[in-house]
Amino acid sequence: METFAGEVFVIGAGAMAEAFVKGVIEKRAIAPERVVVTGRTLGGRAAGLREKYGVRVAGTEAAAGARMVFLAVKPADTAEALAQVRPYLHGQPLVSFAAGVTMDWMAEIIEHRSPVVRTMPNIPVGVLEGATAVSFPEAGLAERDRKDILFLLGQLGEVVEIPERLMNAATAFSGSGPGFVCYFLEAMEAAAIRLGFDPELARALLLQTVVGTARTLREWGLAPDELRRRVTSPGGTTQAGVAVMEAGRLADVVDAALQAAARRSEEMGRAYAVVRD
Ligand SMILES: NC(=O)c1ccc[n+]([C@@H]2O[C@H](COP(=O)([O-])OP(=O)(O)OC[C@H]3O[C@@H](n4cnc5c(N)ncnc54)[C@H](OP(=O)(O)O)[C@@H]3O)[C@@H](O)[C@H]2O)c1
Repeated sequence: METFAGEVFVIGAGAMAEAFVKGVIEKRAIAPERVVVTGRTLGGRAAGLREKYGVRVAGTEAAAGARMVFLAVKPADTAEALAQVRPYLHGQPLVSFAAGVTMDWMAEIIEHRSPVVRTMPNIPVGVLEGATAVSFPEAGLAERDRKDILFLLGQLGEVVEIPERLMNAATAFSGSGPGFVCYFLEAMEAAAIRLGFDPELARALLLQTVVGTARTLREWGLAPDELRRRVTSPGGTTQAGVAVMEAGRLADVVDAALQAAARRSEEMGRAYAVVRD
């Protein structure tokens, strides 16, 4: 079985760090003793990860011995965390999970001592069913490191490589996507209850309908409109329902929602972009 050679150093011990640690260890991509975690303190959440997954906990200086550094702190804490790790960077890739924080901005803070990789994961990484977009720098990253980063991130679910200019779109689409899907599901569930379902039964049917639809699309290799056409017989129930969605311009609403989310991501990211004139 393929495993990662070397140590990884993880800065941050919160939800994202845990998803990463859980994924790479449970899927046996790396041995637990080769994962080193640091938090704001070495007790607390970092110690919790050691108890739960068998990782090591150490101070920032341990980054010096790692083959890769993963940054899993909140965007507002990235400048401080990067300044702390800077003295221990000597070319090993730094992979950031921080939403909205640009590669240029991080590279400047670490004084270009290591190549910077930016990712946009989403909440289902917590159950290793995430959708992660990743952007690699144009230069300075070895091909072997690029492959290893894709391999490690791949333990958390699906990974797609995108140019950094699409990161705001990825934030709006796959990043906020679980929230949008849930909004639709809330409406489906409420409607099912109004149709007479008991809430527990409604929830069970709802979840299996979503998981089953996604799996069918994936396993049969179909586009959503193809599967929709297959289940829509002329004059049938699906057609009656879709006609109402079309009359309510649901597609236009979804389009406007993603545009608004992407604009908001761009606005929020301005704080973490290098402006050169
Ligand atoms: N969770 C997700 O599914 C998800 C999805 C997409 C993107 N992300 C990104 O992942 C990043 C982390 O999010 P999260 O949900 O994991 O946040 P979180 O649960 O708040 O965890 C952040 C962790 O970083 C630690 N920390 C803060 N400053 C530090 C420093 N200077 N050195 C070492 N550790 C430090 C915090 O310590 P304390 O506990 O002491 O505060 C905390 O353990 C964010 O940038 C977010 O945009 C997360």
